[in-house]
Amino acid sequence: MRKLLAVLAVLVALTLLAVWLLFPVDRQDGEAPRAAYTPPVDSVERGRELVTMADCRACHTARGGAPFAGGYAIPTPFGTFFTPNITPDAQTGIGRWSATDFWHALHNGYSKDGTLLYPTFPYTNYTRISRRDADDMYAYLRTVPPVSRPTRAHELGFPYNHRLLLVAWRLLFFRPGVYESDSTQSADWNRGAYLAQGLGHCSACHEARNALGAVKSKHNPAGGLVLNWYAPTLTSPREAGVHDWSIPNIVMLLKTGRTGSTALQATTMGPMGEVVYNSLQYTRDEELRAMAAYLKSLPDTGARSGGLVRSSAHTGTLSKGETIYADDCAQCHGDNGEGRAPAAPPLAGNRAVTMSSTVNPVRIVLFGGYSPGTAGNPRPFGMPPYFQTLRDDQIADVLSYIRASWGNHAPPVSGDEVGRNRGSPLF
Ligand code: HEC
Ligand code: HEC
Ligand code: HEC
Repeated sequence: MRKLLAVLAVLVALTLLAVWLLFPVDRQDGEAPRAAYTPPVDSVERGRELVTMADCRACHTARGGAPFAGGYAIPTPFGTFFTPNITPDAQTGIGRWSATDFWHALHNGYSKDGTLLYPTFPYTNYTRISRRDADDMYAYLRTVPPVSRPTRAHELGFPYNHRLLLVAWRLLFFRPGVYESDSTQSADWNRGAYLAQGLGHCSACHEARNALGAVKSKHNPAGGLVLNWYAPTLTSPREAGVHDWSIPNIVMLLKTGRTGSTALQATTMGPMGEVVYNSLQYTRDEELRAMAAYLKSLPDTGARSGGLVRSSAHTGTLSKGETIYADDCAQCHGDNGEGRAPAAPPLAGNRAVTMSSTVNPVRIVLFGGYSPGTAGNPRPFGMPPYFQTLRDDQIADVLSYIRASWGNHAPPVSGDEVGRNRGSPLF
């Protein structure tokens, strides 16, 4: 009996040691050197810029609520998350946190008391942030007005409401580590990679997630579903890839929410419109140029053309769609989908129309939308909503028509795909 207990004790000790060794936590306190480039501004001011680039405020502010006081609801397939208060309030915020506690949250994904955090807080990206940048962000967050607002509990389904599951999740999907410069690339490229992978957390939306909510792989060829929109992949020029764009056009899209040139029309809407509105429009041009250089260099996984050719099987649908288009859409988007500069974008040759995911075009026609108002595009033109005037099958018909006309070759849209999106006008 004694022997057995001794063996058991040794086994338990070994298991604990293994978990401790394997547990994905960076035990260094991150004195890693800051990625190249040090702008001459003080810590709080620099922290404000970094916090803006990381878009912390968008998630940590409820609609109409005090900045950073939390309470913003994030719907996910696992349930609804409510963001915590990160103002310097001592009782309900992070007023008692040290810079190192803050660093552990961003870098290691755990709270001051050691509670493991859900990756809805994109620490899987923020772990790339250098300790110095994290300290500047902390310095800035100390200066925002403290607000007393207790953090609301998440409403998650079983088993996701058990934080203990995060132990396994982290073993599988999380490796803490600051951004490591790639010495074969320029300082600009490295800066762009640091911003896009870390602070800008582009992959948190733009890459597909597996059933456990983890971004599937490093350079994932599929886009992700987020807040009921489809975030197209940045590695395919048929989706959101900008490999063939000029740097100034990429910078213009990120800064103003749309590209101005007639040859290249793209607009940002929904969650991307929010990212531009809250974060990217305030980013310095040189930082955006660096990000653009990095985005252009991402692996290119998509063919430039292909898809379905107009077939007799859905010509009936197409002629119904053509009539709706002539009645409701042509006055803005043009008889041949050529668009009306500067108001309505062309639909011919527009990847936002022909992408294989139909979620965004469906949502745009249902709920309308507009690019964010930015300094570079102060009065964006709006697209009217049709959820009241067109039935699901009519919206499907008009979308099938624009996806298969004027040189567009994308498969038709079904009424069910429209119906599924009716219930949730988040943006
Ligand atoms: C996509 C939305 C999102 C963004 C962007 C985001 N957060 Fe969060 N954050 C969350 C959620 C959700 C939680 C709660 C996680 C949990 O309960 O496990 C959280 C938790 C935290 C916590 C832990 C608070 C506590 O009491 O334990 C801190 C600190 C924090 N975030 C700071 C930040 C900072 C700083 C930024 C910007 C760099 C940021 N967050 C950006 C969603 C977000
Ligand atoms: C909150 C989720 C989210 C984040 C974070 C995000 N995006 Fe997006 N992005 C989207 C969605 C959704 C779309 C599709 C809607 C649209 O085209 O505006 C999109 C579209 C785009 C497009 C294609 C625009 C077009 O019409 O051709 C580009 C380029 C892009 N994003 C770049 C980025 C970069 C770079 C970052 C990081 C700095 C980023 N995104 C961060 C959700 C996000
Ligand atoms: C009053 C003018 C107007 C009418 C009518 C209109 N649109 Fe639009 N549409 C716009 C504008 C403006 C935008 C760009 C919004 C933005 O900048 O984000 C747009 C965007 C779109 C987009 C997204 C394009 C992109 O690049 O992201 C699609 C798809 C679309 N419209 C389809 C339609 C269809 C189908 C109809 C008819 C049922 C229609 N529109 C009627 C003005 C209009």
